[in-house]
Amino acid sequence: MYKKKIMLLGTGGTIAGKAVNSVETAMYEAGQINIKDLIREIPVLESIAQIECEQVCNIDSADITLEIMVELRNKINKYLSREDIKGIVVAHGTDTLEETAYFLNLTITSSKPVVLVGAMRPATAFSADGIMNMINAIYVAISEHSINKGVLVVMNDRIYAAREVSKTHTTGLDAFTSLELGSLGNVNGEGVNFYQQSLRKHTLESCFSKIDLKNSFPIVDVVYCVAGMSYRTIELFIKNGSQGIVIAGFGNGNINSKFKEKLKNAVKTGTVIVMSSRVASGEIVAGQAAKETGIICAGNLNPQKARILLILALATNKNLNEIQEIFATH
Ligand code: SIN
Repeated sequence: MYKKKIMLLGTGGTIAGKAVNSVETAMYEAGQINIKDLIREIPVLESIAQIECEQVCNIDSADITLEIMVELRNKINKYLSREDIKGIVVAHGTDTLEETAYFLNLTITSSKPVVLVGAMRPATAFSADGIMNMINAIYVAISEHSINKGVLVVMNDRIYAAREVSKTHTTGLDAFTSLELGSLGNVNGEGVNFYQQSLRKHTLESCFSKIDLKNSFPIVDVVYCVAGMSYRTIELFIKNGSQGIVIAGFGNGNINSKFKEKLKNAVKTGTVIVMSSRVASGEIVAGQAAKETGIICAGNLNPQKARILLILALATNKNLNEIQEIFATH
C-alpha cells in the first residue's frame, strides 16, 4: 500500500530526554536521544508513513536561538519543495515550542503540513507521552485536512494553531492550550478531525514567507510589568541598543502612569514599542493615547510571540504603520 513520505526533524527536548530511572519525570536531561533511535522504539510508524529523519540539533529548548529557527525554516522549505515529501514533523522541547512554531508559521513557503510535537515526560518514563504524541503528529502530517492550516502543534491528542497555542502548565500532560480560541481539532486513533482554523495570515500568505532570512536580527527585549516596579529596565534596554521592546503590561495593556512618558520618548527616539499583556488570555484594545504616541498594539498575541513578530518586522525594515498592520493581520 502507498504510504506518504514525511521528513522528521529532531531538535531535542523532553521527547528526547533521559532520566536515571522510569519513575523520574521531573529531574532529567532533555535532548539526549537521537531522533533515529527515538523512532526505532515506535515500529508502528512504519505502517503509517515512510519516514526520513534528520537531527538538526539535540538541545533543551531553553537553548533555542533565532539562528536555529532560521536553520530549521530553511531546511523545512528545502524539504517541502521536494515532490516526494508530503509533510514535516519537528520534535521540539515544549518550553519554547510555541515561539519556534509561530516563527515557522510566519516564514514557511509551502501549504504542506508542518507539525511540531513534544512531550512532557522523558522518553525513559513509564507512560511517557512522547510515543503517542509522535504517532498523532505523523497522522496529522499525512492528513489532507492539514494542508494550508498553517503550522500546527500536536500535543495530548489535540491539534493547535501555532499562533494561538501556549504552554500553560509547567508539568502536566495537558500543558498546551489555546485559552481563548480552543484547539483546532483532535486526533482520535487514525482520525484527524478539524473543527476550525486560524484566519490570520500564515505560510504562503505571510509577508515574511519569501524573505531571505539572514543570521543577524534586531535586538527586541521584553519588559514584564509588576506592581511597584522601577521601570529602569526600559532605560537600560534602550541604552544598550534595543530596537524594539515588547511590554507585558497590566490587564488591557496598562502601565504605571509615570512610565507612559518614558514610552512616548522611546518611540520618539526610534525604539519600536509593542504593548501586550501579562494576562494569559484576551486582547489589547489600542486606546487613543497609545495610537497617538505610535505604540503598537499586540492584539491577542502573548509577549513571547509578539517579540517574534516584531523581530521579523524590524528585520525587514517595516515602518510603524506597516508594523501595526502586520500585528493586525498575522
Ligand atoms: C525543553 O523544552 O527542551 C525541556 C522541556 C520539555 O521539552 O518539556
